[in-house]
Amino acid sequence: MVLVSGSGTNLQALLDASASDAYGARVVAVGADRDGVEGLARAERAGVPTFVERLRDHPGRDEWDESLAARIAEHKPDLVVSAGFMKILGPGVLASAPVVNTHPALLPAFPGAHAVRDALAYGVRVTGCTVHLVDAGVDTGPVIAQEAVAVRDGDDEETLHERIKQVERGLLVDVVGRMAREGWTVTGRTVRLGSRGPVPVKPET
Ligand code: GRF
Repeated sequence: MVLVSGSGTNLQALLDASASDAYGARVVAVGADRDGVEGLARAERAGVPTFVERLRDHPGRDEWDESLAARIAEHKPDLVVSAGFMKILGPGVLASAPVVNTHPALLPAFPGAHAVRDALAYGVRVTGCTVHLVDAGVDTGPVIAQEAVAVRDGDDEETLHERIKQVERGLLVDVVGRMAREGWTVTGRTVRLGSRGPVPVKPET
């Protein structure tokens, strides 16, 4: 299942990929922390169940985390994908299923909500995106995959983020598909995809 807060183009990439059975994963539900976002509309158009859990409807973060975990658990996901979900997930959600996040920078550089702005302000010539497992910290979990994107002269936050997102969507689709098809293991901070060994090739019929 996928958590979103905004436009949901990463979600759309996952929905498009999962239209093919060969992809090996499907989006069982989409959750958001706010109403009316395009990500929810994308899910509805694809016929995927949605829910909204707003922090402000709860007395505090702990209660919000418990409610969100319960909503996630209803769909019994094998994996939760945080794809542009702009809130820090709490222990309840992290205990409900493994969670991966996509981040628009090469972690551990530029964690947090303004990764693209921070990379530009620092003046790096190369940045990129990271898909990682989520732990209790902010963008600190073990890295699964990364891809670099060059900063161009004249880039602003919007142009650079758009180029990163083009790469990010492909990387996320690739990682989630491989996790579903091939399995994965974590040893310390090392995430290895493909722990189930090669996927058997179906005989021609
Ligand atoms: C992505 O760049 C994600 O890494 C960041 O916010 C963006 C979300 O884009 N946290 P979208 O909602 O998937 O279009």
